[in-house]
Amino acid sequence: MDISHKKRTLLKVILLGDSGVGKTSLMNQKFSQHYKATIGADFVTKELQVDDKLVTLQIWDTAGQERFNSLGAAFYRGADCCVLVYDVNAHKTFDTLNNWHDEFIKQADLNDHEAFPFVLLGNKVDVDGGNSRKVTEKKAREWCASRGNLPYFETSAKEGYNVDEAFLNVAKIASENE
Ligand code: GTP
Ligand code: MG
Repeated sequence: MDISHKKRTLLKVILLGDSGVGKTSLMNQKFSQHYKATIGADFVTKELQVDDKLVTLQIWDTAGQERFNSLGAAFYRGADCCVLVYDVNAHKTFDTLNNWHDEFIKQADLNDHEAFPFVLLGNKVDVDGGNSRKVTEKKAREWCASRGNLPYFETSAKEGYNVDEAFLNVAKIASENE
């Protein structure tokens, strides 16, 4: 199909969440067991087709460790979507979602934060066949409902489960918000 005449859009997406939840792994094409903390921030671009539009997602992967995260408000400004990530096997990473959410709202200087698109990912659902899970899907969905009905996806960066679906949804809601 010839899509060269169609509208192209560049959307800025910010990934936030505690250290070790799998933000970098979700962005990378190839999964690595080896953990290397992100320092500062780095981005990848993903090209996706949303309906008849070609969308380029510029996905910013940030550091979960506070001592590596020195991003200022200027970094968050102009974001089209914020993707929050937690690890379903580590309750603390779920409890800190409120902080990440509030911090983003504060830093990004949003006109209307109730309309701003956030997406929540519950990652590492593969671990131990789901037997070491600490946060239920129901709890996660309740949190999403309390924060204005965020879309929720359960993912495994390791197995590539639901990752493309999640980012396609990110592209959709971010381009609707544009
Ligand atoms: P920071 O850069 O410190 O903020 O961490 P991060 O959120 O980028 O985490 P990262 O992607 O580096 O992953 C941390 C560790 O978890 C690594 O050892 C990954 O291999 C592992 N990991 C990430 N995603 C998954 C997953 O879906 N399943 C399993 N089993 N392990 C994962
Ligand atoms: Mg990282």
